[in-house]
Amino acid sequence: MALQDELTKIKTDALTQIAAAADLNALNDIRVQVLGKKGSLTGVLRGMKDLTPEERPKVGSFANTVRDALTEAIEKRHAALSAQALQAKLAQETIDVTLPGRPVHRGTMHVLDQVMEDVESLFMGMGYQVVDGPEVETEHYNFEMLNVPKDHPARDMQDTFYITPDVLLRSQTSPVQARTLEKHDFSQGPLKMISPGRVYRRDTDDATHSHQFHQIEGLVIDKHITMGDLKGTLEVLARHVFGPDRKIRLRPSYFPFTEPSVEVDVSWGSKTGSDDVTSKDNGWVEVLGAGMVHPNVLKSAGVDADVYGGFAFGLGPDRFAMLKYDIEDIRNFYLNDQRFLTQFQQEGE
Ligand code: DAH
Repeated sequence: MALQDELTKIKTDALTQIAAAADLNALNDIRVQVLGKKGSLTGVLRGMKDLTPEERPKVGSFANTVRDALTEAIEKRHAALSAQALQAKLAQETIDVTLPGRPVHRGTMHVLDQVMEDVESLFMGMGYQVVDGPEVETEHYNFEMLNVPKDHPARDMQDTFYITPDVLLRSQTSPVQARTLEKHDFSQGPLKMISPGRVYRRDTDDATHSHQFHQIEGLVIDKHITMGDLKGTLEVLARHVFGPDRKIRLRPSYFPFTEPSVEVDVSWGSKTGSDDVTSKDNGWVEVLGAGMVHPNVLKSAGVDADVYGGFAFGLGPDRFAMLKYDIEDIRNFYLNDQRFLTQFQQEGE
């Protein structure tokens, strides 16, 4: 076939293929097959060296028009296919602005924090200061300053995590009493404080025990404080937390840092069963320990026990929350299960 005919065939075939190219990849393949280094048109142009000098310019210029025509056709098709691809992509990525948004999960205040804040604000309203103490404590403050010398059997009441023989994880918030007493300047007025915080005991976790739980310590020291002041204060507390019609009763008990010591029960409906005050069926339920501060505690802190005295109490926010909301397992507070925690959403949260 004469070169001219060959060129014409290449051109018509290629134009048909270009028009039919389904996408940019297919179009590029055609370009390589025709115009590439090993392409059909390039092959023909290479054959021109065998032509006579008269034929060469004619065929050459014809070949150029074929190449130009094909290049132009490819460019046009390229533009058309690109626009198509863009349209397809845009159609696929359309955003449906009417779709509902993804919910943003907001946390709720932990139920124990709620109970502690509630108790704190009650006592702040009565002029108490809120004091913080260290969770890693010395046995000096955790025990000795609280009238529990070494080897005293009262140490067995609390199974304690020791870090060294002198350093421990506090087993109660009572050491904050000693720390605050030591620093208090009675010429500035009486001492009224509460101290909420975490405490630790070597207990095996079960429904009613946790190796980590919370306490709120309370301490009032002044001249002429009586057990009546203690009872009145705890009555206000019980009514504030559990309901306005609650009564409280005091039962004798023992704590090394108070004398006399009491266990405090709150009225809980009528007796339906058990004699056990840790059960609500008793008609009363035990909620906290308290007493009149032992003179030894005052003396250890450098306070004149002949002039000053007062009361102390220690309550468990975990137990308060369990009673108030009928929670049967203390471990719920520490598992961070949203299904549990979100049940205590407060208004406005
Ligand atoms: N610290 C005691 C405990 O953990 C609770 C307690 C009882 C604290 C009587 C007091 C108190 O301040 O007066 O068992």
